[in-house]
Amino acid sequence: MNSIPRRRFDCLVIGAGGGGLRAALQLAQGEAHVAVVSKVFPTRSHTVAAQGGINAALGNVLPDNWHWHMYDTVKGSDYLGDQDAIEYMCRAAAHLVIELEHYGVPFTRLDNGRIYQRTFGGQSQNFGGDHAARTCAAADRTGHALLHALYQQNLKARTHFFDEFFVIDLLVDKDGSALGALVIEIETGEPLIIEAKTTLIATGGAGRLFRTTTNALINTGDGMAMALRAGIPLQDMEFMQFHPTALAGIGILITEGVRGEGGYLINSEGERFMERYAPKVKDLASRDVVSRAIYEEIHAGRGCGPKKDYILLKLDHLGAEVIKKRLPNIRDLSIRFAHVDPIEKPIPVNPTVHYTMGGIPTNRFGQVVVPVETGPEVPVPGLYAAGECACVSVHGANRLGGNSLLDIIVFGRAAGNNILEYLKENRFHRPMAEDAVERATARLTRWDKKGAGESVDLICDELRLTMEKYCGVYRKQDVLDEGIKKVTELDQRLKRATLRDHSKIFNTARIEALELENLMEVAYATVYSAAARHESRGAHSRQDYPKRDDIHWLKHTLYSRDGHKLDYKPVRMKPLTVEPFPPKERVY
Ligand code: FUM
Repeated sequence: MNSIPRRRFDCLVIGAGGGGLRAALQLAQGEAHVAVVSKVFPTRSHTVAAQGGINAALGNVLPDNWHWHMYDTVKGSDYLGDQDAIEYMCRAAAHLVIELEHYGVPFTRLDNGRIYQRTFGGQSQNFGGDHAARTCAAADRTGHALLHALYQQNLKARTHFFDEFFVIDLLVDKDGSALGALVIEIETGEPLIIEAKTTLIATGGAGRLFRTTTNALINTGDGMAMALRAGIPLQDMEFMQFHPTALAGIGILITEGVRGEGGYLINSEGERFMERYAPKVKDLASRDVVSRAIYEEIHAGRGCGPKKDYILLKLDHLGAEVIKKRLPNIRDLSIRFAHVDPIEKPIPVNPTVHYTMGGIPTNRFGQVVVPVETGPEVPVPGLYAAGECACVSVHGANRLGGNSLLDIIVFGRAAGNNILEYLKENRFHRPMAEDAVERATARLTRWDKKGAGESVDLICDELRLTMEKYCGVYRKQDVLDEGIKKVTELDQRLKRATLRDHSKIFNTARIEALELENLMEVAYATVYSAAARHESRGAHSRQDYPKRDDIHWLKHTLYSRDGHKLDYKPVRMKPLTVEPFPPKERVY
């Protein structure tokens, strides 16, 4: 046995965003001994950047119910979402948002004291009728409010935090059962083995795979890559969401809440162009539709600015009072980073990579599930995933705004509950697989070698450009095939790269190299999955296959690391208690 120190817990939670913290809270309140490992201080996790709000059919502003929310989510997913999980999420939403209020989330209030709700894209009353107003907001800083409240509740519940620790790899035994992880403390570089009866991956998305993104630097797909290395396939990785409105050229998110409050998009001719693309709901169509409309305008020469490469988001007509009260953060970001005060002038915006719809396949209890040859998929013993790194799949081919905060709360809690049940039946730690520790350690020591090899930073920049160029909003077979070649070449270069031969290598350099290895795994999964799906659905838009093809492609992709193999599994079309929503043409 090697000399790396060891700690033991009932559950190891990897990631301290909303999904990880909601699960940890359930566990700590249920008397489990739980550790949360986070590569940043918990309240710096990417949930903090969520702006516009969390969906729940409270009906505080306009009539609403969970069944309408379910319909909108299924339609928004372009019918690729699993309807049992979607029903579960939409039914749970109201109760869990009120629970958040009780945890201390300072939601914005209506005059009658109820939680304020705004309209977001793709929301309707009565199965496709008038707009609904379903997004519960804490001004335009909802994620910030939610994350801080959950962190405080976890401190109270005595969750154990390992702040600024990086997970090198999962530890799994021969049967694939989860045993914990090898981690290092970023500041000291000291390794630690965390042995756990259960492990929950809640590491968020992989937006940093692309050059321009609303995602934080930390969103490098770490959990997804760990799962791949542990032999678990990734599901639906071809579906990467572009948010229609991020600050042009910079990528900072400008919330959909701006359009929910009555803001709208205009082109260089001052035309409200969404009227042509989504005549009924205009700027409040779903994100894939609005992002493509913006690109159409730019390609038609109606973009704004000297290079005609962005469009404008107009909100000055809302008035200073509404902007200051409901969108203070947006005003601040716009003044700071675009030198534009939206009270006076429109904000320059562009579609930007925002959300990874695919991820580690789970069921609605948060259990990671894998296919078996002999029958339906089975849970991996002791392994769970929740939030953006997981694919449960409630977002299918396109997520609706306001459903990501909901997803992390609903499925973080569900995973916590299921883990508590599992712990009742599995009271002891399984023996550690020492060969798994050795494999994980090798991943770490590989970067001890210093030399004059190629710089990791350059490869990272090229990877992000490659993904933008060869696997962007519009896709085509020859371009995607070229993308596969480029990613493969970059991977070969990464295998030969070394850290610079300075007298002192900072641990951040080593962490960045490890993160790039993770991004590379996710890049393969994304580009291989995209090249194989010969249809257009949701965020996956193929110029050579412009139509959705339900006969051949109403199915989930499963990408495995070995041999870049692709398998498929059916979409779960059967909800829990209500009639299914069969696929139909998706118009807004
Ligand atoms: O536009 C936004 O505020 C983003 C919300 C979301 O991605 O759910």
